[in-house]
Amino acid sequence: MPLVNSKELFEKAYKEGYAIGAFNCNNMEIVQAITEAAKECNSPVILQVSAGARKYAKPIYLRKMVEAAVEDTGLPIVLHLDHGADFEICKDCIDGGFTSVMIDASSKPFEENIALTRKVVEYAHAHKPYVTVEAELGTLAGIEDDVKVEHGAESYTKPEQVEEFVRRTGVDSLAIAIGTSHGAYKFKPEQCTRDPKTGVLCPPPLRFDILEEVSKRLPGFPIVLHGSSSVNQEYVKIINENGGALVDAVGVPEEQLRKASTMAVCKINIDSDLRLAMTAGIREHMVAHPDHFDPRQYIGDGRKYVKDLVKHKITEVLGSSNKI
Ligand code: G3H
Ligand code: 13P
Ligand code: ZN
Repeated sequence: MPLVNSKELFEKAYKEGYAIGAFNCNNMEIVQAITEAAKECNSPVILQVSAGARKYAKPIYLRKMVEAAVEDTGLPIVLHLDHGADFEICKDCIDGGFTSVMIDASSKPFEENIALTRKVVEYAHAHKPYVTVEAELGTLAGIEDDVKVEHGAESYTKPEQVEEFVRRTGVDSLAIAIGTSHGAYKFKPEQCTRDPKTGVLCPPPLRFDILEEVSKRLPGFPIVLHGSSSVNQEYVKIINENGGALVDAVGVPEEQLRKASTMAVCKINIDSDLRLAMTAGIREHMVAHPDHFDPRQYIGDGRKYVKDLVKHKITEVLGSSNKI
């Protein structure tokens, strides 16, 4: 099976009330961990590549690795550009074999966001085979590539804008801002309550009212959530017990993402959780085996931790296992 776009995957996910995991990949071990986990769960999966990943690994390596994963697993895999900042990067990816792109003009005024998204959609849909396009309305807090949005400067998606946006752009899916944010520090301690027993921060709930209002206005239309790592505390603990210093790292609780997956949300973006799992595996290995110096030993442990995490997300959060 060749790489696929997201159209049919989202149609089935919407109908059956689950979401597809969109996991960021930056190197071979991450690609293998994600796709081996998806294979064992019999789940479709989206591998996404940011501008930072392209800079780190070079587009050609990433594409060839993803193609190798398709051949190795036989899974329906989408190769997606994450947070495309302009028309040129989207075009480059479309021309280079990506089956899906995101044009992220969410920081621009509404009319500019529409015009740029429309331009990418026209190019992507004219491509044979058809490339699917994701866009965004509303802004998330946190860091993505070189853009940093401070807590307090984020803005929720305005439901009254979504119908016009989708109609005028022809976009295939829409990322919305309902309180998720990028990175491992999603909420400031003062936005949270603290569990008196564990000392762990408990964040404010997502704005499900906005998600409901958006899906009422766009029946059957796939919604995307960015910034959806949960910052699983078992990995934070391993990291901190093995020389790390992650203080007050907090994410979106998994139960809330599980609920969103049963609603109109068809794609859930997870990157920071993979980074934490990889770091936990490597740190634990390094401390337990100070005499080791073969990268396959410690990166191999990191890969195993990422694979276990992805299996957990597919089965317990996304609900996408056995959906092929
Ligand atoms: O949304 C941001 C993703 O986590 C990608 O992060 O730009 O550091 O590759 P990156
Ligand atoms: P996290 O930082 O929560 O993993 O979000 C990743 C993301 O949205 C990639 O686009
Ligand atoms: Zn994102």
